[in-house]
Amino acid sequence: MHRIAVLTSGGDAPGMNAALRAVVRSADARGIDVYGVRSGYEGLIDGELSPLSARSVSSILHLGGTMLGTARSERFLTVEGRQKAISALAAHQIEGLVVIGGDGSFRGADVLSHECDVAVVGVPGTIDNDLSGCDYTLGFDTAVNTALDAIDRIRDTAASHKRAFFIEVMGRSSGWIGLHSAIAGGATDVLLPERPTDIDELQHRIHEAFRMGKQYCLIVVAEGDDAGGAFEVAQRCSEGLAGVSHRVTALGHVQRGGPPLMRDRVLAARLGDAAVTALIDGENRVMVGEVHWEVVRTPLEHTWTAVDPPNRELMELMDRLAR
Ligand code: F6P
Repeated sequence: MHRIAVLTSGGDAPGMNAALRAVVRSADARGIDVYGVRSGYEGLIDGELSPLSARSVSSILHLGGTMLGTARSERFLTVEGRQKAISALAAHQIEGLVVIGGDGSFRGADVLSHECDVAVVGVPGTIDNDLSGCDYTLGFDTAVNTALDAIDRIRDTAASHKRAFFIEVMGRSSGWIGLHSAIAGGATDVLLPERPTDIDELQHRIHEAFRMGKQYCLIVVAEGDDAGGAFEVAQRCSEGLAGVSHRVTALGHVQRGGPPLMRDRVLAARLGDAAVTALIDGENRVMVGEVHWEVVRTPLEHTWTAVDPPNRELMELMDRLAR
């Protein structure tokens, strides 16, 4: 392996820059040239590749977002788009490609690798934590802590006014952020895409919470819940919540930004390095991830076909402690 490329794709996640730095420096230490691709697959299609040196990734370790830029590429879903991307890789004599992203990015990488000789290795980078083959994806820990910081602040005002708050967190089809921020934030209930929501039961829980003497009530709503986002859920509850003062806060994209916390930085360092090692070892179509503290390689296809829903035991724990 003499020359590789690296790109970030899909929704940005804290830790992507740290992973990029690790890929570049690990490759540099092993005498491999690295090209950075701007704006994910969009930039690959347009041939936006340029060399990255160990110095060019200085002082990015602690930054949120991605220095390379990212995109959700419609063109890459077409054969014509991918042919252009393959031509760009060939023009730069790229032998291996590291893709830092989530399931959509990995699906794209998988298809690409069947259409050309470039080996692909994935690094799990998404705040959603919805990939199989790793305990945590890059950005998940930081995103949950960002949500938690907001939840703690909301608790202050909720308790002062004896209010119920519906707090929307990210996760269009994944409840990992919702469940973890609800447990860590001491929420009364959490609504997740992975389980159906019963509005009557939710109203009952809120009334019960105040009847039992709680001074506030926090309901965490994952944006992709079957009953809707936090505004919709609050609206649907409003009649049954007569006499209960309530407000809604949607945390939105603040959860995606900000400096990665220690856990995401160390994970990024490990996985960026492991991606380069995997390419050197001749691997193709695998994702590197940490499972029980060990770095493992999982066939790319398994990462999105064998996804674990949020741990059932944690859901039960959440319900048990919310009293
Ligand atoms: O990257 C994952 C994610 O943040 C999801 O949690 C969220 O539903 C989605 O991306 C939002 O995507 P966009 O920024 O494209 O609106």
